[in-house]
Amino acid sequence: MQLDRILQSQGFGSRKHCRGMIRHGQVAIADKVCDDPFVELNPEGLNFSVDGEPWQYREHAYIMLHKPQGHECSRTPKHHPSIFSLLPDPLVGREVQPVGRLDEDTTGLLLLTDDGQFIHALISPKRKVPKVYAVTTKHPVDDDQLAALRRGVQLHDEPVPIAAAACERIDDHLIHLTLIEGKYHQVKRMVAAAGNRVEALRRIAIGGLSLPDDLEPGEWRWLEASDLEKLWGKSEG
Ligand code: URA
Repeated sequence: MQLDRILQSQGFGSRKHCRGMIRHGQVAIADKVCDDPFVELNPEGLNFSVDGEPWQYREHAYIMLHKPQGHECSRTPKHHPSIFSLLPDPLVGREVQPVGRLDEDTTGLLLLTDDGQFIHALISPKRKVPKVYAVTTKHPVDDDQLAALRRGVQLHDEPVPIAAAACERIDDHLIHLTLIEGKYHQVKRMVAAAGNRVEALRRIAIGGLSLPDDLEPGEWRWLEASDLEKLWGKSEG
């Protein structure tokens, strides 16, 4: 593939823009500036740098973000900064989308990708990929509330009661709630329907992939093959 096309596919702008960057000497391969936009390269596993920043060619982008408080999962946020302001321009340029949205005040594990099939597979209730939330409650969680969440609660506008796939009390004010759907404000509405109230909400795992301890709020990283295996690991079979 031509170098200008490779850069374009990785989110660095139009082909014309990429050609300009290459001709200006902003792109290096194996630490050597390459100023020929038309040089043919095998993109598979290609390492290159743009303005000294290292990149690796990836056919699709799969990343995890530790979503901080006070960010909206929209490209056109209304009241708060967008999560896209936390990502480098090429990722925004290749139009990664969040795999299901988290509320502005929800924190934790958010996946983003430019692979539509991947998004569909993860959010489709048919695939039953569990999403685990750490829910801090306003009132102490009692046994009736746990039982209601496990049995199913009736939400406004839903035809049938919705049950948590799992619900575990961690302490008086903290439960781990596992859902396989991703309905609007689902955790907050389920907890309210069970007679309590969400004070803080954090997504701690999707499938078998947990939010890493060393990924600080606002930080992102690529999903590597081992992360993708973990992601699907617990949800298939
Ligand atoms: N459920 C909610 O209520 N909010 C979220 O952000 C995610 C799940």
